[in-house]
Amino acid sequence: MPRTRVADEVGGSATADRPHLILVGMMGSGKTTVGRRLAAVLDRPFRDSDELVESRTGHTVREIFEREGEEAFRREEAAVLAASLAEDEPAVVAAAGGTVLRPENRSCMRTRGRVVWLRAPTDVLVARAGAGGHRPLLDGDPGGVLEEMATARGELYRETADLVLDVDALDPDEVVTRILEAIR
Ligand code: S3P
Repeated sequence: MPRTRVADEVGGSATADRPHLILVGMMGSGKTTVGRRLAAVLDRPFRDSDELVESRTGHTVREIFEREGEEAFRREEAAVLAASLAEDEPAVVAAAGGTVLRPENRSCMRTRGRVVWLRAPTDVLVARAGAGGHRPLLDGDPGGVLEEMATARGELYRETADLVLDVDALDPDEVVTRILEAIR
């Protein structure tokens, strides 16, 4: 598979109906790091769905998983994603790994922005994501969980993304450059 796919569909500047640049991909794929840098270069606000959940609820991602369970977290996640994508000011949005699980999130992302999938093999994700922090799902067996998730979610990322970028051999600045090349 080529490193970038359907780059033409990502091309051009933000349009009124699809103003946002949205990064999707598994935990450890670099969405937040790359998203922050992209937002700085493009002079756009940066939004991270996990950070939005935490500021909206006053609880960490981990606390929400532990106290209320994954479904409650997914509800909050869908709400903040919809709210941030409804804004008209073009932003760079890092959509956490599980956002593709809900059809309404996938549809909203495709409708309101250009979507880039940062793709990496599981061994790279394990090394980058590690465990702990805001990733309670990785507490036990990060490698096994990430492998299962990659299988379960691969098609969802694929159907949501306008552009697939293989990031395993790229550092964050190179990823930013590749995305800028694709959107300009
Ligand atoms: C999750 C990804 C995490 C966080 C939560 C669940 C997932 O965000 O939302 O731990 O299900 O893939 P990142 O993708 O930013 O690590």
